[in-house]
Amino acid sequence: MQRTHLSLIASALLSAGLAGCGGSSDSTPTTTTVAVVDADTVADQNAAALLSQMTLDEKIQLVHGAGFGSSPIGGAGFVAGIPRLGIPDIISADSSGGVNVDKTGATSLPSPLALAASWDTSLANQYGALIGKELRTLGFTEGLGGGVNLAREPRNGRTFEYLGEDPLLAGNMITQRIIGTQAQNVIATIKHFAVNDQETNRFTSNAIVDERTLRELSLLPFEIGVKNGAPGNVMCSYNLVNGVKACQNSYLLTDTLKNEWGFKGVVQSDWFMAVTDTVPAAIAGLDEEQPGSLDDSVPGFGGLKSHFNQSLKAAIQSGQVPQSRLDDMVLRKLRTLYKLGIMASPPKAGGTIDRTAGNALAQQVAEQSMVLLKNAAPAGTSTTALPLNAASIKSIAVIGGHADVAVLAGGGSGGSPAQDGNPVTCLDTSILVEGIFSACATWYKSSPLAAIQAKAPNATVTYLDGTDATAAATAAATADVTIVFATQWESEGMDLASLSLPNHTTDPSNQAYDQDALISAVAAKAKRTVVVLETGTAVTMPWLANVHAVLESWYPGIQGGPAIANLLFGTVNPSGKLPLSFPVADSDLPQKTIAPTDVNVVYNEGLMMGYRWYDAHQIAPLFPFGHGLSYTTFAYSGMSSATDAAGNVTVSFTLTNNGSRAGAEVAQVYAQLPSGIGEPPKRLVGWQKVQLAAGQSTKVSVTVPPQQLAIWNINKHQWKVPAGSYTFYAGGSSRDANAVSSGSTIAGQVIARKL
Ligand code: BGC
Repeated sequence: MQRTHLSLIASALLSAGLAGCGGSSDSTPTTTTVAVVDADTVADQNAAALLSQMTLDEKIQLVHGAGFGSSPIGGAGFVAGIPRLGIPDIISADSSGGVNVDKTGATSLPSPLALAASWDTSLANQYGALIGKELRTLGFTEGLGGGVNLAREPRNGRTFEYLGEDPLLAGNMITQRIIGTQAQNVIATIKHFAVNDQETNRFTSNAIVDERTLRELSLLPFEIGVKNGAPGNVMCSYNLVNGVKACQNSYLLTDTLKNEWGFKGVVQSDWFMAVTDTVPAAIAGLDEEQPGSLDDSVPGFGGLKSHFNQSLKAAIQSGQVPQSRLDDMVLRKLRTLYKLGIMASPPKAGGTIDRTAGNALAQQVAEQSMVLLKNAAPAGTSTTALPLNAASIKSIAVIGGHADVAVLAGGGSGGSPAQDGNPVTCLDTSILVEGIFSACATWYKSSPLAAIQAKAPNATVTYLDGTDATAAATAAATADVTIVFATQWESEGMDLASLSLPNHTTDPSNQAYDQDALISAVAAKAKRTVVVLETGTAVTMPWLANVHAVLESWYPGIQGGPAIANLLFGTVNPSGKLPLSFPVADSDLPQKTIAPTDVNVVYNEGLMMGYRWYDAHQIAPLFPFGHGLSYTTFAYSGMSSATDAAGNVTVSFTLTNNGSRAGAEVAQVYAQLPSGIGEPPKRLVGWQKVQLAAGQSTKVSVTVPPQQLAIWNINKHQWKVPAGSYTFYAGGSSRDANAVSSGSTIAGQVIARKL
């Protein structure tokens, strides 16, 4: 877990025998010392040597972008290289769910929230690797995906870009994503640091959050990702944290990220208004301003001025910012370029994307991430509504959600363009997000309707667009199965007014009708109603009791159509689990509304965030965190837990597939910490995704390192595992009534603070 940045010099003895093998006639044993230096040290040494050759202007050039739109190949950021020293241009592109640059043919993967619903860390690695590979193929040095802000506020318009509400799930998934990307010799980013949990007033909002909540929740996915994934780039966020701008916040950037977590890469500002003051930003630990400009005094995009060009140079010359701080900024950049092999081999633009490989991964992620929320048997039948049996179905009505042509994607920098063309016409192009960005959704050409018809070639499949609820209900009345598609569009720069499915009033650019009313009308008449959701976050479902099945497909990416059909027909058995809680109503959320007047966002709920909130306040969610059904069933038994001398707890149990199909279960382990210390009723401490044949059993062991049991001591500012009795639960969700449990008494310990 812990990387060492110290020089590792090992001595190796070469034996006389080896010398002999070399053909030496001298039989006297010889001793040779060989210096073995780790890659971090080499990178540091190379960076220091190069820095010593740089002029002040060259150093300044490396710590700011050259302005919005300055990249010769598109993308978001451009730091000009220095050819005389062999330093390449550093060109960055947004890449949350695929390279967000138009007309490149890059793969549009399912959204990061979907990835989180797979709970599959090796898939996260492949997801990061594919994006890294495509970035490099197109000439980009750095990917700006990697959002990991927790879904404290599920109406946050960027929830689709993030990895859910739990810090361990998000932290472990982002770690593997980073490792996957950087293995392609591309710099990975983790963002938005920190507490950037909603979009309303995003440039000015001030998150007011206590230290313990900060450390145990908001910062924890970053801590896990930074320590275990070692990203080259951390993007600090627009908002303020406890009154100080995140990009000018020395507690976040220097004390915590760099000094405590040992971050060796670059802290880069988010794009607009993240930096307002040169000297405080530089002193606080900011290493790169984006998008920057060639002239700090000239207003750039949005009328904004930059701060890390002439202004920073003047601050260095006047001594307001020490030279050592500028050198540190540059060293961080250079050592990252060396460490990731970019100095030796910078990316070259103009490569061709392998869409076959991209689409295969897009489909795999989609199939592993969809969550079967409900699957009941229609009245008078004994079999569940899903999977559909093509042999016995004669007619299928597919309704709404543009399912005839496309699947939905998110907007803003975390979206990715419809590389194959957008088949859905925007209803109102005059509406703008933040007065600048289009409020029109991106749709990918991947038709669920065509994929459903292909699965049931002998069935009559009809499509109605949903604008006429009466016609839809009439069609549903005679069809063997009715599949209603419902969509919810999210984007950077806006929050959702509510978790209700949007209608023509709440999202007039993208919705022509009232989706809840359509589903209710159809459900009232259909023999078998299946709802397929394409959403970026949780939605409320006033019609839930009246439909038989609900499949959450998130924003399922360019292969969404075939993936949805594969799940509906059981070609793929669902195995996704919710990475965030679905509440019954908005009024169940800790923050009742998001008011534009609330510039101070107060984290009054403290540690009770996400499922911790519902558990602590005994509020029944619509679907709990971790929930997800399968076409088979799993049973947990025989739980035990054992603690070793280092404080690692190994939780073991038997998992049995007691249904009739092969399937995968995300077996989740939660811990209840000792009472009386202010902790929520439970926290996720580990999981394993296990594939089992029908009837198969296996012993599952999940090791819980002490860090997963630690709480933040606000007096000593350190992690500590409290001594006392713990209960561990293993089950199929955070509220599995059949979960098994085991108690352990743990001695407690302080977790080393410094790396
Ligand atoms: C977003 C970042 C993004 C950047 C560059 C900002 O508005 O907050 O996530 O990487 O733009 O496009």
